[in-house]
Amino acid sequence: MSLKSLKEVVKVLLSGDKGLLAMDESNATCNERFAKLDIPQTEEARRAYRELIVTTPGISECVSGMILYDETIRQKKKDGTPFVKALTDLGIVPGIKVDTGAKDLAGHPGERVTEGLDGLRGRLISYFQLGARFAKWRAVIDLGEGLPSLGCIEANAHALARYAALCQEAELVPVVEAEVLMDGAHSLQRCLQVTEETLRMVFNQLHAQRVATEAVILKPNMVLPGWACPRQESVEDVADATVNCLYRSVPASVPGIAFLSGGQSPELASERLNAMNSRFRSKLPWALTFSFSRAIQQPALEIWMGEEVHVVTAQKTLLHRVMCNRAARRGEYTTAMERSR
Ligand code: 13P
Repeated sequence: MSLKSLKEVVKVLLSGDKGLLAMDESNATCNERFAKLDIPQTEEARRAYRELIVTTPGISECVSGMILYDETIRQKKKDGTPFVKALTDLGIVPGIKVDTGAKDLAGHPGERVTEGLDGLRGRLISYFQLGARFAKWRAVIDLGEGLPSLGCIEANAHALARYAALCQEAELVPVVEAEVLMDGAHSLQRCLQVTEETLRMVFNQLHAQRVATEAVILKPNMVLPGWACPRQESVEDVADATVNCLYRSVPASVPGIAFLSGGQSPELASERLNAMNSRFRSKLPWALTFSFSRAIQQPALEIWMGEEVHVVTAQKTLLHRVMCNRAARRGEYTTAMERSR
């Protein structure tokens, strides 16, 4: 492992006011989103949609890295240019999702553990050869009556650490994603407690597996009340709870934290990221940025609808979202940006 080259990739990924764009939905998840909009669930439709994203004019001003899926990293633009080359030519770092999904955890009804460690060393070497320079693995933690269990948090954190160590060995920067889900009626306080416990466990396991935390990007959830919770805190309260949780659980050696959106509306995701950066600006040891999928893509997907004629409008919508998030990274986003398009 060369820590120096890993840190160089991290530097590019966190540069300026940019963030990451996650387009690493598995075929099943991508098809699910397409099905809801009556878009054909074919390899060609998935390719065309990802081409729309990769070729959005101006995207490289706002996005430093894109996370791809195993199918996507092998796909090409219509003119034959591999997506990886198209991204690299734009100065965007290609990344790759390497877990194989969350599966039921034995002995723990209602809980899941993310799989994908078997054969991972070989797959990482192949992805590096294909041009990937960073990777992603997502652990999910369900909240509920008596959940999560310590066993579930531990199993997921251990797998994340084993993944991260293998990534660094293969010269890929690990994006360590631990998502406490928004589903349910739990309070913000409960999410705070579980997120803190999860992140502490994740960093304990990263240390145990000798992962260099200075060459890791953390991808956590924001600290939010569940969807169905009657009390929905203000943007400022969410920002304060999230940053305080991170202060207590994430070492200052970590260079950057890139949030997932988790099903929040695109506008709220931008507003909340903005509030964290504007309220804590000079007091943060890490860069706080975005690594959204739905909160960047969904409005554009709903315009595209699988139709070539809508590509340009969908791309403008996509660009608008990443520009809003870029402003949020600087702490300069305002809701007026949503009206002034
Ligand atoms: P969302 O922003 O839609 O939560 O997705 C981020 C991600 O990468 C999920 O693994």
